Amino acid sequence: MSKDYLEAAIEIARDAGKILREEFDRPAQISYKGDVDLVTQADKRSEQTIVGRLTKYFPDHSIAAEEGSGHESGSEFRWHVDPLDGTTNFAHGYPCFSVSIALAQRGALLAGVVYNPFYDELFAAARGAGATLNGKRIFVSKVDVLATSLMCTGFPVHKRLANPNIHYYWDFTLRSHGVRRDGSAALDLASVAAGRFDGFWEFGLKAWDTAAGVLLIEEAGGKVSDFLGRPYELGGPVILATNGLIHEEARGVAFEISQRDPSAPLRR
Ligand code: IPD
Ligand code: CA
Ligand code: CA
Repeated sequence: MSKDYLEAAIEIARDAGKILREEFDRPAQISYKGDVDLVTQADKRSEQTIVGRLTKYFPDHSIAAEEGSGHESGSEFRWHVDPLDGTTNFAHGYPCFSVSIALAQRGALLAGVVYNPFYDELFAAARGAGATLNGKRIFVSKVDVLATSLMCTGFPVHKRLANPNIHYYWDFTLRSHGVRRDGSAALDLASVAAGRFDGFWEFGLKAWDTAAGVLLIEEAGGKVSDFLGRPYELGGPVILATNGLIHEEARGVAFEISQRDPSAPLRR
């Protein structure tokens, strides 16, 4: 059953991706939702296509979409839609951005797609059926210590000064092969699923940022939790997603940092 949902999500993500490709070649018309929270014509056109098509195919389902054009139907099925994840990259011409579409039934993820139209990389997963990249099975990496891991994180566009992540960034950088900040949480999670990154964490992500990526990681053999090791809940305040092998070590480091005074200077 969830296979049909996945097929629909793949078709729609590819069409939304075509719009993003077209818009990427034009000068971006940027407006601001917050001091560094950008939105472009591309976000809106992509969302219009996705929400319109989902509504046509699944008229009874609810849709939560970032730019606000979704609707609540009271259904147990809810689509989580980020029409353009990585808007800042997009607006600056850095080709690291994606479409993220996922379906959950009473909070349980059934299907998810993350698509980078610039590189034509489509990551897809259906519950119980594994995760794929352009149709080929993908799996998380086999790196089993943090010291030889490549990590990834992101920084929020809201309340930047209140965010403690610079402390985590500092510590994880010193304890690993490095920490990337690539600017599309959905692609960051997909990259953990594909074994390109060994782990990822971030604060304050919304369900539309993480839903598809979380299912990709679970279906690729990885693990997703909060810093206490409790299962990650969509839209929860913090996410830690890894290949599973480094999860406990990374979680311990994150938990230790969370106990420090966030206004203290960075540690040497
Ligand atoms: C953002 C990206 C970024 C993350 C931010 C998100 P947007 O989404 O996923 O990587 O660090 O927290 O808000 O605004 O480009 O859809
Ligand atoms: Ca996003
Ligand atoms: Ca977005």
